[in-house]
Amino acid sequence: MTLRTSEIPGFYKLSVEERRKVVREWAGLTEEEARVYEFPPGIDPGILSRMIENVIGAFALPLGIATNFQVNGKEYLIPMAIEEPSVVAAASNAAKLARARGGFQAQATDPVMIGQIQILDVADPAGARFRILGAKAALLAAANAKDPMLVRFGGGARDLSVRILSTPRGTMLVAHLLVDARDAGGMNAVNTMCEALAPEVARLAGGRAVLRIISNLAVERLARATATFPAELLKTDSATGPEVVEAILDAYALAVADPFRAATHNKGIMNGVSAVVLATGNDFRAIESGAHTYAAYRAEDGGVVRPLTTYEKNASGDLVGTIELPTAVGLIGGATAVHPTAKANVKLLRLTGGAQELAQVIAAVGLAQNFAALRALATEGIQRGHMELHARNIAAMAGARPDEVDRVVERLIAEHAIRIDRAREIVEEMRRSAPA
Ligand code: MEV
Repeated sequence: MTLRTSEIPGFYKLSVEERRKVVREWAGLTEEEARVYEFPPGIDPGILSRMIENVIGAFALPLGIATNFQVNGKEYLIPMAIEEPSVVAAASNAAKLARARGGFQAQATDPVMIGQIQILDVADPAGARFRILGAKAALLAAANAKDPMLVRFGGGARDLSVRILSTPRGTMLVAHLLVDARDAGGMNAVNTMCEALAPEVARLAGGRAVLRIISNLAVERLARATATFPAELLKTDSATGPEVVEAILDAYALAVADPFRAATHNKGIMNGVSAVVLATGNDFRAIESGAHTYAAYRAEDGGVVRPLTTYEKNASGDLVGTIELPTAVGLIGGATAVHPTAKANVKLLRLTGGAQELAQVIAAVGLAQNFAALRALATEGIQRGHMELHARNIAAMAGARPDEVDRVVERLIAEHAIRIDRAREIVEEMRRSAPA
C-alpha cells in the first residue's frame, strides 16, 4: 500500500492538466468523473488559472436571470449566480409587484472605503490623537501620492479620524483613513495607502503600527433602495391584500425584536445580494461580512442584530419596504474585470453609472428577495415554491424521461411525498399502464 501525502512539492508549478492528473490519481477518479474539471466552452482556461493558485478546473453554479426589475426608472435583467431553488423566481415576482408603483427607488453614497491603522504602545492616547489629526492634510496628500490614477478618476483619500479603543491588551489607537474608491472595490488602493501612512502615523503617536488593512464594515459606502408593494396585489387564495400587509408587518416585527429571526431574515436578503455580487465577480465574503456586522452595528442598543430592511404601511394601506446596507462592489480590478462570465454579466446590466449604480441594483434585489420571503412566510409558507423545482430534480433522478417529468412532479406534490423511492414507483406505474 502506498502511503499518501498531501505534501506535493512544486504542485503550483504544474500545468492545469498535470495537476488534474495528480488529483485524479489521488482520488481514484475515473476519466468520466474527472471530466467535470474541464473548463466550460467560452472560458479561456488561461484567465481562470491566473486568477487563483493551483487551479484544476471551474466550479459552475447555475446562473439565472431575474426579470421585471425597474430601478430609478431604468429596466434591468439581473444576473444571479446561486445554487438555491426559488430565489430567482421570488426576486422576479417581487420586482413585478413593485413595478405597479414605479419599481425601486435607489441611491448610493459616495463609494468611500475605510482603512485601519492600528497603533500600539502609545503613552498619551488623547495627545497622540490630536497630533495625528493635526497632520491630516499632509497625511492625506501622502496617501493620494500613492495612487495618482485613482485621484485622476475623481477618487482618493478624503478624510482621517482617530479612535481610542479599550482592548483586552490595553489601550490602542486606530486611525481610519477614508478613501473614495470610485469604481474599484478599493481593497488594493486602501491597503497600499494605509501601509504607506503607517510609519508616519506611528511616529506622530509615539507608538508602533501593526495592522494596516481595509475594514469590511463599509459604513461610508452604503446603498439604499425602497419600493411600495400595492396591498391589492398581495392577496392570496386565503387572505385579502390588507391582511397580507398586516401579516408581513408582524413577520418583520419579529425580526426587529429577535436576533434568531433577524439572522434568517437577513439571510434571505443576502440570497439576492450575494447572487448578484457573485455573478458580477465581486468579493461576496466582503459584502456578507459587512452586511452582517452592519446589521448589529447600527442597532442603537449595540450588539443586537437587526434586520437590514424596514417595513411600514403607508397612508393608502400599501406596504413600503426599505433597505440600507454597505455595498463595496467594484467594476474595475478584481474578478469583475477579468472573469469572462462576470464581464458578460456586467454588460448585461447595462450600467452607465458605475459601481454606485451596481450597488443600487444590488440593494433593490436584496429588498425584492426579502419582501418575497416575508410574503411567502406570512401567507402560505415557504415550502410550496421550493417544492416544484425540488420535485423536478427528484423526478429526473428517478429516471423520468422529459415527457414524463411533469406528470411525476404533479403526483409527487399532490401526495406530499417528494421522495426518490416514490418517484421511482410512479415512473414504473406510468410505464406499466402506458408503455412507451
Ligand atoms: C431561505 O434561503 C431564506 C428564508 O429563510 C428567508 C426568511 O426566512 O426570511 C426564506
